[in-house]
Amino acid sequence: MVKKQSKQTPSYFAPEQKADREVDMTQIDSREFRNALGQFATGVTIVTTKDFQGQAVGMTANSFSSLSLEPPLVLWSIAKTSSNYTAFVETNDFAIHILNSEQQDLCGQFARKDIDRFAGVSTETNAAGTPLLTEYLARFQCTTEHRYEGGDHIILVGRVNQLDTQAGEPLLFYKGSFEQLAQTEPV
Ligand SMILES: Cc1cc2nc3c(=O)[nH]c(=O)nc-3n(C[C@H](O)[C@H](O)[C@H](O)COP(=O)(O)O)c2cc1C
Repeated sequence: MVKKQSKQTPSYFAPEQKADREVDMTQIDSREFRNALGQFATGVTIVTTKDFQGQAVGMTANSFSSLSLEPPLVLWSIAKTSSNYTAFVETNDFAIHILNSEQQDLCGQFARKDIDRFAGVSTETNAAGTPLLTEYLARFQCTTEHRYEGGDHIILVGRVNQLDTQAGEPLLFYKGSFEQLAQTEPV
């Protein structure tokens, strides 16, 4: 049997290809690592749950990612140093809200320490007792499906039980700053 040869080696397999800036993988400088990761533009989410005392907790997170369509799974990761760590790792229910371009202040509010992050925020509560924001681009109500070790973070995988969407433009995070989608002409 003749094996079919691929005509072109995919660039990610080509050893001769040099990057503009190479870093020794055995000694990664954390600042350089952060800067390189910042090249990946993301959306911004607020993740919410309630703690074991029934108090609403929430935090800004851009580690959100889609994971599986069938079953419907999403993931995000929480720093082990977070004040919300215990609440999110112990809960079986949480909600993820993808923010719109007008929610930059909310993003800042849910990243700030030692304040009431829910002050002045319109919320409702689902049957599991999870606090839900009423404004968002997309909202995923989840039950915790898996928890995985991830270095200084824990990866939380949620099964989406209910989703809601609202009209709007996304809030974007890139190189440590907030951005908006550039206006483009319809094709
Ligand atoms: C844009 C943005 C994205 C963030 N993403 C995450 C994240 O994915 N996971 C995480 O643990 N913290 C993330 N943080 C930090 C938390 O929102 C929060 O500021 C930090 O954990 C300190 O508060 P805490 O100790 O109450 O969690 C992010 C902050 C910002 C501003």
